[in-house]
Amino acid sequence: MEVIIKPDAESAALLVARLMAKELRSNPHLVMGLATGRTMEAVYALLAEMHEKEGLDFSLSRAFNLDEYVGLPPEHAGSYRYYMNRHLFGRVNVDPRNTHLPNGMARDLEAECRRYEEDIRRFGGIDLQLLGLGQAGHIGFNEPLSALRSRTRVKALTPMTIQQNAPLFDGPGKVPHRAITMGVGTILECRRCILLATGSDKAEIISKAVEGPITSMISATALQLHARCTVVVDGAAAGQLRGADYYRWVFANEPEWQEFRKLELRALPRAVHSGRSRRQRGVGRSAKDQS
Ligand code: GLP
Repeated sequence: MEVIIKPDAESAALLVARLMAKELRSNPHLVMGLATGRTMEAVYALLAEMHEKEGLDFSLSRAFNLDEYVGLPPEHAGSYRYYMNRHLFGRVNVDPRNTHLPNGMARDLEAECRRYEEDIRRFGGIDLQLLGLGQAGHIGFNEPLSALRSRTRVKALTPMTIQQNAPLFDGPGKVPHRAITMGVGTILECRRCILLATGSDKAEIISKAVEGPITSMISATALQLHARCTVVVDGAAAGQLRGADYYRWVFANEPEWQEFRKLELRALPRAVHSGRSRRQRGVGRSAKDQS
């Protein structure tokens, strides 16, 4: 695991978006594992901007989301399908048929969980998994006591998670109590993962996740077992990390990070970029889509 500390939430999100964009450019067929939550909104806004200004191409990529609430239809503003359409899928040229979320409305939820796992496997597994961090230390909706080898299944949400996600609904009473989530074992099978956490309210849990003992009480601690996991935090979320000086030194000195030390969002010259998005220009859409 490596930890990168950026001064503020904006530059942390930019680093995550740049890491993702680099992977996508080197493998246009990238299978992305995606996360929701307020922290990710900035990353998706930047990816949409990179699509718009730099032609970042999602047309051959595929996306699997971590989780979805049970009982919410896709058109419900609190559903994660709605969130993804709004923040990313509707703003880039990903083929909607290549975007996957568990179906929280499925009649047979267990069969739906099995189908989701099979789909991930059928498309070759997840290349790059984005992760946020819940206050309870969950990744996806893997609440305390989630088995470290768990697979996609239904989980009951803790009161803390319901409280944390209440602002996205009209109060805690409206937050569903159950969700389908990829398991910790499912997540650990991805080829690379990047966790983003920002703000002082994540400082305590991020220090436990990164530097604490591995425990099913905090599912994010399982990431310590992953061979290629990058944790990106801002200065506020890094406030309780004991190894912060070492992590800063590694990022500032190791050659691997050189191209990511000074980041900005570059716009292409006008002649190259007409001002219309690739989606508007029909770039990356199949003939069928355009007919
Ligand atoms: C929800 C999602 C998690 C996400 C968390 C973080 O609980 N299921 O995958 O990590 O929100 O939320 P935020 O970024 O709003 O703090």
